[in-house]
Amino acid sequence: MSAANGLNGEAPYAKRRTFAIISHPDAGKTTLTEKLLLSGGAIRAAGQVRARGERRRARSDWMKIEQERGISVSSSVMTFERNGIIYNLLDTPGHEDFSEDTYRTLTAVDAAIMVIDAAKGIESQTRKLFEVCRLRDIPIITFVNKIDREGRHALEILDEVQEALALDVSPMTWPVGMGSDFFGVYDWQKKLFYTSDGERGGAFTQTKTVSGLDDPILTGTVFDRIMDELQENVELGAEGYAAFDKDAFLEGHLTPVFFGSALRDYGVEELLDFIAAHAPAPHSQAATGGRTIMPEEDKVTGFVFKVQANMDPKHRDRIAFVRLCSGTFRRGMKLKHVRAGKQIAVSAPIFFFAEEREIADLAYPGDVIGVPNHGQLRVGDTLTEGEEIHVTGLPAFAPEILRRVRLSDTMRVKQMRQGLQDLAEEGLVQIFKPDIGSNWIVGVVGVLQLDVVVDRLKAEYGTEIGFEAVNLSTARWIETDQATLQKMIEAHRMSIANDRDDRPVFLFKNAWEVGYITDKYPDVTFRETREIV
Ligand code: G4P
Repeated sequence: MSAANGLNGEAPYAKRRTFAIISHPDAGKTTLTEKLLLSGGAIRAAGQVRARGERRRARSDWMKIEQERGISVSSSVMTFERNGIIYNLLDTPGHEDFSEDTYRTLTAVDAAIMVIDAAKGIESQTRKLFEVCRLRDIPIITFVNKIDREGRHALEILDEVQEALALDVSPMTWPVGMGSDFFGVYDWQKKLFYTSDGERGGAFTQTKTVSGLDDPILTGTVFDRIMDELQENVELGAEGYAAFDKDAFLEGHLTPVFFGSALRDYGVEELLDFIAAHAPAPHSQAATGGRTIMPEEDKVTGFVFKVQANMDPKHRDRIAFVRLCSGTFRRGMKLKHVRAGKQIAVSAPIFFFAEEREIADLAYPGDVIGVPNHGQLRVGDTLTEGEEIHVTGLPAFAPEILRRVRLSDTMRVKQMRQGLQDLAEEGLVQIFKPDIGSNWIVGVVGVLQLDVVVDRLKAEYGTEIGFEAVNLSTARWIETDQATLQKMIEAHRMSIANDRDDRPVFLFKNAWEVGYITDKYPDVTFRETREIV
């Protein structure tokens, strides 16, 4: 990684592009990931992302859930270098039940690729994830995938993105036919025709420079009616949609749109080239006390956005994924774990490549390092060279599903509590310890999370649990003074619990009660989200 280490004079962080892919399940995220990695030389053969996924999945009951249900529940990071740029691709779970995890991963990226199926347009999960990106002003690049199949008209898709997401769209390329009439992709600004030298509709193999739409390279091969449509698209596109504007893109108001086929390699390299040229280098990061951490600062800061257990079946260790925000990280550094008020020596940090892991000797802002630990590090934690700050912006959401934990073997209370506490620290579930009664309540955003909890407690803590329905619908964090809190506890002892950090929470039976209690205690703030730290 010589060029990217800054030996050519440019700050190393300026060469980092840290991004995620968001999509509705089945739109082609895995296929695109694989093709990006292939294009970046990170893997050697197609099929490895899936194969690697399958090997990994075979490792535990938890992973079995992924396999059985065909969903991906764990985020991970893959780093590769291409033309002197270091790409850190953070994977996000596609299933909506794990959206909290995705949300936190999106706090660690500087840009996102939104993959849309050309036949389906914007789907529910795309829209939700898009909203998260918008909240954080993350610039979005749109990839309209599967144009090798029959899809909707290109203009219809552009209009849908523009209207559904209230975002300016700027078409960068156009499909040259779709489905059985698919000839390739046309870059109308660079005047490049991406096509196959094999049969029509074959995989992308060659880029042809053309003089324009009347170039015989195009007119000689592409059907007339497809050329007419392309002509119309290019003309309408130039007039009817925004021209690409880098500032508008970086501010999250405009999305460049690429048409392509991940399966047949169309549009993949254009995406990487675009990210290299226009996607932002690591951004600043807000922290407590009004502090803004800038990537060019000398001292190291970073935050944990993801904790993953089970990465290596031989060890019970967990890996904390730390996004670096500033400074130059060197292996062996002692960093302050701010929440715990302790120093930790980061002696075996890991970089994740597609096919292997490597000890991270040096890392820069934008990079993600894996820090093995025994459970000290949890999601939302900040690491610094001594400064007492917490990175902000990683919320926990009020759970929408609450269940009481039922333990078959009461001798295993200790293991159960340890397990639940650990999973809560990974950010998989929230736990609430009621003021009355000893049975903990578990809160999740999606019901599949409950299955993962049952499987993991059995596999990793040897403890079988079940869940009982409770007459509760949501929780809110209580913010008030001590005297009011005491008064509330006395009046509503049955409804008050503590979360894993012993912060008071009100467990509500229904929406009506939320309104009633909120009105009754005007001086109390009931929060739907809270900062994790
Ligand atoms: P996901 O991660 O977003 O869930 O989607 P994934 O990449 O797994 O793709 C979902 C399905 O769509 C896969 O087919 C994949 O081969 C197909 N696909 C992805 N990109 C394209 C494309 O550009 N063109 C076409 N025609 N198909 C595409 P599958 O049959 O479900 O799986 P598989 O048996 O092919 O692996």
